[in-house]
Amino acid sequence: MSKPIHVLFLDDEYLVLQFIGHQFANEPYGVSLTSDPDQAMETVRKENIKVVVSDQLMPKIQGVQFLQNVKQFNPEIVRILLTAHTDFSAAEEAINIGEVYRVISKPWKSTDLLSAVQHAIERYDLMEKSEQTNRKLKAMYEVQREFTSTVSHELRTPLASIKTAIDLVIKKTLGAINPEQEEVLGRAKKNVDRLKRLIDDILDLTKMESGKLKMSFMKNDIHQTIREVAEAQRDFAQSRGLYLKTALDGHVPYISFDSDRITQVLNNLVSNAIKFTKRGGITIKTTNKYQDDYVLVSVIDTGKGISEENLSKLFQKFHQIESPHENEEGGTGLGLAISKEIISLHGGRIWVESKLERGTTFQFVLPLQERKFEE
Ligand SMILES: Nc1ncnc2c1ncn2[C@@H]1O[C@H](COP(=O)(O)OP(=O)(O)O)[C@@H](O)[C@H]1O
Ligand SMILES: [Mg+2]
Repeated sequence: MSKPIHVLFLDDEYLVLQFIGHQFANEPYGVSLTSDPDQAMETVRKENIKVVVSDQLMPKIQGVQFLQNVKQFNPEIVRILLTAHTDFSAAEEAINIGEVYRVISKPWKSTDLLSAVQHAIERYDLMEKSEQTNRKLKAMYEVQREFTSTVSHELRTPLASIKTAIDLVIKKTLGAINPEQEEVLGRAKKNVDRLKRLIDDILDLTKMESGKLKMSFMKNDIHQTIREVAEAQRDFAQSRGLYLKTALDGHVPYISFDSDRITQVLNNLVSNAIKFTKRGGITIKTTNKYQDDYVLVSVIDTGKGISEENLSKLFQKFHQIESPHENEEGGTGLGLAISKEIISLHGGRIWVESKLERGTTFQFVLPLQERKFEE
């Protein structure tokens, strides 16, 4: 039975090929030997080639060029260049720009070539294996996301019906209820609302992570969006005795962004800031960073701050410093994870700086340059 061909040798000298043929005769894989570059390419296309070894100086084509063609066809094939000392600089260049895996200079020791090819095959197999694992993991992750998304969807309808039922009773549409009943239902309503927020957040996040949620970018006034968010949150801040002000840089130009989504980010940052601040207040600030081509938005509070060890985990899903029970507003712990996704879908970045008992500043940047509209 013939062995599967995994290695291809290209050299214009017949004697060299013959020598190599002898050397590799007892290997567990088959080799293909040729002096014709066209025929070599043909073999690369037809056989399951893992390693290509090519001479550098040939009349029809240079080895580096030939290996580039191989790379173009399949970048996973490991490429080795055989070269005489005289043209070593070309070979060095090829290694540096990642065109070849190894260079072997002529004349080589027979064991050198054998072990180089052996290593190259192992490298190919390893890469292929990790590629396979990668694909499997990706597929598994996709299945998991599908599941999460389906379950969340299925939960929505019954939840809506529970919510309607509670509302009907609590608003006394169906008749009088006593204060005790009202209180119990009030708690139920609060939890149903929380569950609804959680499901909506999970759906949002899974859609963003799987790339199914498209942003609708439009050139817009970010200050307008900020003013609207400040208006919407002012009552909440005032009810806590906190100020909520804006400090907007007049030089900020119109930029391209999805205003609903940026509103979502700002609402989350500002409501977080209000939730975790007892004295003082919140400032939303913009800064134009012309030289760096972006707009910087900061949400600054004078609140309780975040400890060093928690800072790095804040943007992870479901990370809340206090348990949801202590957290009176009953957040979902997904707000910052969603904000991070939204900002990164805009080509921006979000981060946080904080000092315990002094306050916290969340900042994000959005790029100034026009984004292409996505369908
Ligand atoms: N401005 C802030 N000051 C102090 N802690 C904060 C601030 N913003 C966020 N956090 C912490 O980060 C956690 C996660 O925030 P987020 O992802 O928005 O979830 P949620 O608001 O639903 O709890 C909060 O529960 C809180 O512990
Ligand atoms: Mg939040």
